Formats: sequence, structure tokens, C-alpha cells
Amino acid sequence: MLLTMMTMPRRVAAETLDHLPPADPAAMRSRRDLVRVHRVMGTRAIVTRGWQDLLAGRALARPLRILELGAGDGSLLLGVAAALSPGLPPVQLTLLDRQSIVSRATLAAYADLGWSVRVQQADVLDWAAGPAEAEPWDLISTALFLHHFEGSELDRLLAAVAARSDRFFACEPRRSRLPWAASHLVGALGANAVTREDAVLSVHAGFSGLEISALWPGDSALWQTREFAAGLFSHCFSARRAGSQ
Ligand SMILES: C[S@@+](CC[C@H](N)C(=O)[O-])C[C@H]1O[C@@H](n2cnc3c(N)ncnc32)[C@H](O)[C@@H]1O
Repeated sequence: MLLTMMTMPRRVAAETLDHLPPADPAAMRSRRDLVRVHRVMGTRAIVTRGWQDLLAGRALARPLRILELGAGDGSLLLGVAAALSPGLPPVQLTLLDRQSIVSRATLAAYADLGWSVRVQQADVLDWAAGPAEAEPWDLISTALFLHHFEGSELDRLLAAVAARSDRFFACEPRRSRLPWAASHLVGALGANAVTREDAVLSVHAGFSGLEISALWPGDSALWQTREFAAGLFSHCFSARRAGSQ
């Protein structure tokens, strides 16, 4: 079975949480589980380091414009904001998700850090097909999100990201043996059935090697890209437009 996993192609399947109404008790519980899963994965520290690398040397005085796609309840980036805000200029953050589930308390916590937050309820593929924003994003970021997509949908999503931003950071499940084994153990964190099932599906849909780089549509002369394993369970892709400020 483990050998099978090592050679398994990506398999993307619908995750239960994405299709439950936001107020469904099982969905609410699963989102709380996700906070614990992120803690075990070390996602906050991984994303914080990824952003620091991408934003290092940035010289502009104007506020940073950051977009998170598939932001969920916005709590993951709140931790990143707390870690980074002392050293950053003001940030205008947009949290885009199909579900509108960012609480007032979370918005207030961002405001306390000096980050202005806009919640955008949209399907990311509609966003990708729609008109570009007036100015490019300084950074587009995703966490546990890209792996929901494959084929032409993933192509369209990455094309929109490359066309509309100067930097991109993705932190996704790593499709390899250890994350696969660990995904079967999230019940030990007290996770409910939705989280237990979605965790396994996420690893099967995750990435490895240079799979995201191979799909990245940016001109290689214009973009510096990096794809790497992070922590025990994550797989990251980072892209920076040459000469971006
Ligand atoms: C696994 S959760 C990750 C949430 C958050 N990024 C985090 O790491 O805590 C995936 C999120 O993607 C959102 N999502 C899935 N498909 C989407 C789509 N087509 N457009 C916008 N959001 C989507 C779901 O609503 C969910 O909030």
C-alpha cells in the first residue's frame, strides 16, 4: 500500500467541507479541527517564512495589497499577520472564499494589527474569469487550496494569478508517504468524520516534486520560482516577478 502511494498520480476528489453549508455543525467543527491540523503541520510558520522571503527587499512606501484565495475563516493568516505586522507597512488584505465565514472577532483582530481586511465571497474560477483588479496584487497566497483543482481549472487559476500579481505563495499538502500516513491519524487530534475523510483526500490531491512549477504559466525569464517540501507534511511553491517592488 505504501509503495502504491509513492507512485500514485494526483487524484482530486470533492472534499466534504467544501459542500457543507457554513452553519452545519459538522462543518463548523471541521473548521475548528483545521486550526489544530495547521498547528501540527506548522502552516503558520511555513507561510510566514514564505512571505518574508518573497517580500524581502521590497521598497515601496504604499500599503501592501495581498489577496488570499480560498481563505476560509481567515484565521490562518491572522496568525501570519500577528507574526509579520511589526515589520510590514500597512496591509490591505482581501480574503476570497466561496463561503462568507470570517467572523467579526477575526476582523477585529486584524484591525488591531492595523491590517484592513475586505471579505470577497466568490468562486475562485469566477474571479479568474472576471476582469483583473485595477492594480496588480503585491502578493497572492493560498493554503490548502490549490489542491482542490486540476486540469484546465488549475491552469486557468494559475494563469489569473500570474497575470494579476507580482508574487505568489502556495502551501499545500505534500503527496508523499509520511503525510499520507499522518492523514489517517487526524482522529487522534479529536477531528470529526468530515476532517478525517478530507485529510486523506487532500493528500491524494496534494503535490510533489516540481508539479506546480511545471504548470506555472509565467515566463521563466520574468519569474523566479521555487518549489520545495516544507515541514513534515507541506509542499510549497513560491514565485516572484523579476524587478517587482
Ligand atoms: C481546506 S479549506 C482552507 C482554508 C484556509 N486557506 C486555511 O488554510 O485555513 C479550503 C477552502 O477553500 C474554499 N473553496 C473551495 N473551492 C473554492 C472555490 N472554487 N472558490 C472559492 N473558494 C473555494 C472552501 O470554501 C474552503 O474555505
